[in-house]
Amino acid sequence: MDLTRQFAMPRGPLGRLVGRLMAVINKSQVEAVVAELAAVPGERVLEIGFGPGVGLVTLARTAPEVRIEGVDPSSAMVAQARRRVRRFGGRVRLREGTAAALPWEDDSFDAVFAANSAQLWQPRVGSLAEVLRVLRPGGRLVLGVLERAVLPDGGSAGPQFDEVLLPDVEAAGFAGVEGEWRPSNLGGRELLVRAVRPAGNDRDSG
Ligand SMILES: C[S@@+](CC[C@H](N)C(=O)[O-])C[C@H]1O[C@@H](n2cnc3c(N)ncnc32)[C@H](O)[C@@H]1O
Repeated sequence: MDLTRQFAMPRGPLGRLVGRLMAVINKSQVEAVVAELAAVPGERVLEIGFGPGVGLVTLARTAPEVRIEGVDPSSAMVAQARRRVRRFGGRVRLREGTAAALPWEDDSFDAVFAANSAQLWQPRVGSLAEVLRVLRPGGRLVLGVLERAVLPDGGSAGPQFDEVLLPDVEAAGFAGVEGEWRPSNLGGRELLVRAVRPAGNDRDSG
């Protein structure tokens, strides 16, 4: 497996190294995504594709009364993130899995976020519909994707990724979908997407 693909699915010793690298190079962007979520005490929040766990730690530190869950398909990243969040005890709980089949019941979360992960979800609209399912009505979604974020085929998201991601978020049933490009501190730009699950949404009404 080449190095680029290790960012999409970290595996083995090289995957663990890539995890440590991501924990440094993506830190400020991941922190910005967490800040955008503006979690409040008592909320239950899910991070999808947490990688080395910087987003989980940032949220646990900045929002002490928030219950946090996370899911990532890479066992190497689950192990690395578990070590990072150990100090928060049972307040942060992690599972192995993908966005396409989230192991939680309907309406489980007040907010969901993902950094540099949504570009990897397959199928994307189906995975976003899973996110909608586990969000409560009125629940918030925040996605951050760097221009250089790796795609499943090894390419990068690129400067027009908003034109792909925003219609998919809408197609999954989200409302209030907004996207914004911001400069990234390592050069290039990052796309920030905000959306909500419509309040009182009947999932079967189309
Ligand atoms: C580029 S890394 C980003 C990690 C971290 N969020 C960050 O920004 O530094 C992508 C992460 O998404 C995870 N991932 C890949 N495919 C996924 C999927 N279908 N559903 C959820 N997470 C996925 C990978 O295992 C990896 O940990």
